[in-house]
Amino acid sequence: MIPQEFIQSLLGRVDIVDVVDRHVKLKKAGANFQACCPFHNEKTPSFSVSPTKQFYHCFGCGAHGNAIGFLMEFSGYAYPEAIRALAETVGMPVPETQARYDKSAAATVPGLAARMNDALAYFRAELKKSKPAIDYLKGRGLSGEIAVRYGLGFAPDGWQNLEAIFPDYATAPLKDTGLVIDTEAEGEKKSRRYDRFRNRVMFPILDARGNVIGFGGRVIGPGEPKYLNSPETPLFEKGRELYGLYQARRAIRDANQVIVVEGYMDVVALAQHGVENAVATLGTATTPMHLSKLLKMADNVVFCFDGDSAGRKAAWRALEIGLPVLADGKVVSFLFLPAEDDPDTFVRREGKAAFIAAAADAKPLSQFLFSELVSRVDMASDEGRARFLAQARPLVSQVEAPALGAMLRKRLAELARLEPGEIDRLVPPPAAAAPPQGRWPTTPPARGIRRIVPIESRLLARVLHQPSLAAMIPTELIRTYNAEGGALKEIVAYFAEDPTRTMGQASAYFDGTEHAVTLMSSLEDPLLNEVDDPDIDYVAEIDHMVGELRLLKAGERRSELVQLLGQGDLTGEQRAELEGLMSSLATEKSGIPPTEPRSKF
Ligand code: UTP
Ligand code: MN
Repeated sequence: MIPQEFIQSLLGRVDIVDVVDRHVKLKKAGANFQACCPFHNEKTPSFSVSPTKQFYHCFGCGAHGNAIGFLMEFSGYAYPEAIRALAETVGMPVPETQARYDKSAAATVPGLAARMNDALAYFRAELKKSKPAIDYLKGRGLSGEIAVRYGLGFAPDGWQNLEAIFPDYATAPLKDTGLVIDTEAEGEKKSRRYDRFRNRVMFPILDARGNVIGFGGRVIGPGEPKYLNSPETPLFEKGRELYGLYQARRAIRDANQVIVVEGYMDVVALAQHGVENAVATLGTATTPMHLSKLLKMADNVVFCFDGDSAGRKAAWRALEIGLPVLADGKVVSFLFLPAEDDPDTFVRREGKAAFIAAAADAKPLSQFLFSELVSRVDMASDEGRARFLAQARPLVSQVEAPALGAMLRKRLAELARLEPGEIDRLVPPPAAAAPPQGRWPTTPPARGIRRIVPIESRLLARVLHQPSLAAMIPTELIRTYNAEGGALKEIVAYFAEDPTRTMGQASAYFDGTEHAVTLMSSLEDPLLNEVDDPDIDYVAEIDHMVGELRLLKAGERRSELVQLLGQGDLTGEQRAELEGLMSSLATEKSGIPPTEPRSKF
């Protein structure tokens, strides 16, 4: 939890020109600085950085924001990570107040990061001394250079080797590193502590800034378990980290593609053969957090899973995760290798060019979706097609991207042999009020084109920037049919509980929850974030939007009652309610216009 005041003074201290220039060479152009935009492909520079406004803006793709936003977008940092990285560049220590949310509180366990670094240095030094470990890695085709790039190491055999580097081996704090295990053996009074990793080749897991947060350790040769992994610790949360992301970052941007594989060895072997844009999940399923992180860094995500049934299952799970987060312009595809292969064996045998070609030829999500569903039923029979439709419906309806969604419904109609009209009835396109983009709006519309944004999305951005406005919004009016609505409901309640809470606090509080990505997207959405406009009366605007919500709610209730009326089920009380609604809705309609008179959206 980073205090808002700190963030403000940090932004006052850094110069966005320096921050951007470190990653993208800038040229002076009048009062501003220019470069080719790092967020889309272009030949002539439309990306400019304003030293006076401390903002960057791209006229080509609409990307814009402050120094924190730049680091988030460019480096894939989460909000607090970006703040920490920025603070480091100007040598400001980040004050962290105790958060209610475990992770942020625990991440400040003193000395933990240093201990992880010490362990890494130790494992690396031990690798240099171990001929069997070196031979093993060489035998798997890895060079010394790659071993250094991935920080590979070796944990020698023995129960308490780490005692040599940690004088506090026996004390409580060392437990937080996940490097030791305590046992309470039967009959023994005192628990015994020993090293988790013994006689294993070590793969350090790095966070976005290159700090060690965990390890994977592989047995040399055969043995069980093949891999041991660090447990989740205050530093290490598997659902959000990806192995190899730190090393792959540049290559992912250059290729505008990221390849997601299953194993540590796959990442390292691919890099050895010049395929540097690969990352791996950490022995866990792909999470929405993983995917959204990656979709921010590249437009193309290729999942490359083993050809076996476990691989297909993992792929299906990734597909389910992908449906709601897909935006038009983003491509998620699936590469299935021959059953006997994994990326490591494939690239070693077939080489870089063959692997790249296979990745380029991966099955798009839509194709994988339908081929998989079709294979489960007998499409020749009406019953089979009905089952197919029943299974496809909940999946297809999750796609919010308008163009992709329309294509999927069209294909669905063809396969099920239905008329397009019938499909629209069975699988309705997202509500007209829903945003015409995916939930991760990374490709803003061309300038001058207005996007229709649901009220909940607008309110969410407002409230995040001005938490004091939250109290104006009655939570019972908030519709939760989209992600923003769900997040808004929670955040309004959160701010209402204690009006002194800030956006920084909220960001830390919701970090790691289902709302984290929505909040982040909302903060970054260039169309929602022009918040310091002196021409706008924000209180009046919120007031107006709440009025609209009230109308919508009343309209919904009226439809409900009208339906009951049609069934002849209306009580006297409900009849009176309906009459009230009818007349109040009628006066609202003829009174003020239903949309806000003046708004930036
Ligand atoms: P694989 O068994 O496919 O491993 O497991 P691999 O990377 O191909 O390993 P090599 O080539 O045999 O050395 C994929 C991933 O699943 C996790 C690890 O993260 C591994 O990289 N895993 C696997 C475990 O955590 N524990 C295990 O015992 C096995
Ligand atoms: Mn393998």
